[in-house]
Amino acid sequence: MKYHIVTYGCQMNVHESEKIAGLLRGVGYTEEAPVEEADIVVFNTCCIRENAENHAFGNIGALKKLKRRKKGLLIAVGGCMAQEAGKAALLVKKFPFIDIVFGTHNVAELPALIARKKQEKKVVSLLEDRAETEDGAQAFRTSYPNAWVNITYGCNNFCTYCIVPYVRGREKSRAADRILEEAEALVAAGYKEITLLGQNVNSYRDNDTDFPALLDRVASIPGKFRLRFMTSHPKDFSERLVAVMKKHDKICNLLHLPAQSGSSRILSLMNRRYTREQYLADVALFKKEIPDGEITTDLIVGFPTETEADFEETLSLVREADFSSAFTFIYSPRTGTKAATMDGQIPEEVSKERIARLIEQVNENTRRKSEKYVGKTIEILCEDYDAKKGLYLGREPLGRMGYFKSDKHCVGEFVNLKVTRANGVSLYGDLV
Ligand code: SAH
Ligand code: SF4
Ligand code: F3S
Repeated sequence: MKYHIVTYGCQMNVHESEKIAGLLRGVGYTEEAPVEEADIVVFNTCCIRENAENHAFGNIGALKKLKRRKKGLLIAVGGCMAQEAGKAALLVKKFPFIDIVFGTHNVAELPALIARKKQEKKVVSLLEDRAETEDGAQAFRTSYPNAWVNITYGCNNFCTYCIVPYVRGREKSRAADRILEEAEALVAAGYKEITLLGQNVNSYRDNDTDFPALLDRVASIPGKFRLRFMTSHPKDFSERLVAVMKKHDKICNLLHLPAQSGSSRILSLMNRRYTREQYLADVALFKKEIPDGEITTDLIVGFPTETEADFEETLSLVREADFSSAFTFIYSPRTGTKAATMDGQIPEEVSKERIARLIEQVNENTRRKSEKYVGKTIEILCEDYDAKKGLYLGREPLGRMGYFKSDKHCVGEFVNLKVTRANGVSLYGDLV
């Protein structure tokens, strides 16, 4: 039997889809296939912004005909949108051909739900919070040479715009020993890059082990591999974290530190619990200790009551913090969050005009910083071969993509590249 998984949203979901694949492979779905050939289609959804939901609605709806034609085809919907209050009911009402709905805490129960569905006629649904952090699901990894490792689940921060704490539940840290075991096994299996995942890795805690201590332990595993982590919340950023980054060459000197806004007034309304000044102090500390390091960020425009002056503070933050790149978003009201009911919602035209200016500023930073690489030699971890371009590609430690020609298959290998040309976050060069 064949499966097809459609993934929306963040790295967390990408890795969860690897777990879903592992679970399906455990119950007889032996092969991934295009949607038309699949015996089960799983949608792993996201609800962080309205457009993420619209995508999923569109794609699920598009299966209506296939489902009618193909008796026995199972359609399962999981992820953050399935977990959102009232959404599961809406999904099933809109798309009565859905067979299974499963929540963000119930991924490991998908095989049992499939078995149940084969007995029952009506939709089978499970949306229950589970306390454990080990679900026993073996990921079927598809991102070699990179591997994702969860360290925390959920979030306690309740940023006022954000739905994650509602759909992912309270923050839970995995036991440090389990994380170490998983990372050691990955290195032994030949993975060359490990990314530790959590909504706010800096608040990780297992008894005496906090995030810097955990990072130190993972980075001490012998062997050549790169270590990355995301996401760091600025409110919990610490000198000790920077010290551990400095101590280990394995830890990439790239810090993803979402600022969200450059205006302290807006940050306070967002419940981010730091000011512009504190954020810039973190940036300064990082740059002083790790001068060749770089910072990337997430930014939201059009948060309720954001004025032109507030927005200009976000623009100037991009210059002052010297971000090498940024994910930029138009604020999207999420039902149930505090910001959705705030006065002063910003008209879409205003947000659109702001985000265009913001992207221009971010691109300017990216260009300027990437151009400095021309003529330099960088280390690339080769990730893939682009058949269309006829080039191999992979990332340098600070996250830029490097493209190059090679006579031999080199996916999974570290290679040195002399950069001849830069284009945004892409670098082109020759092997040395
Ligand atoms: N836990 C991470 C981010 C998770 S969501 C952190 O705290 O940084 C990824 C990004 O989506 C956020 O950083 C934020 O910039 C954006 N985002 C979250 N909710 C949003 C909303 N309602 N509208 C627009 N962007 C949003
Ligand atoms: Fe959302 Fe804030 Fe938690 Fe990040 S820290 S997931 S933005 S509530
Ligand atoms: Fe990730 Fe989207 Fe959920 S960003 S945590 S998949 S709401």
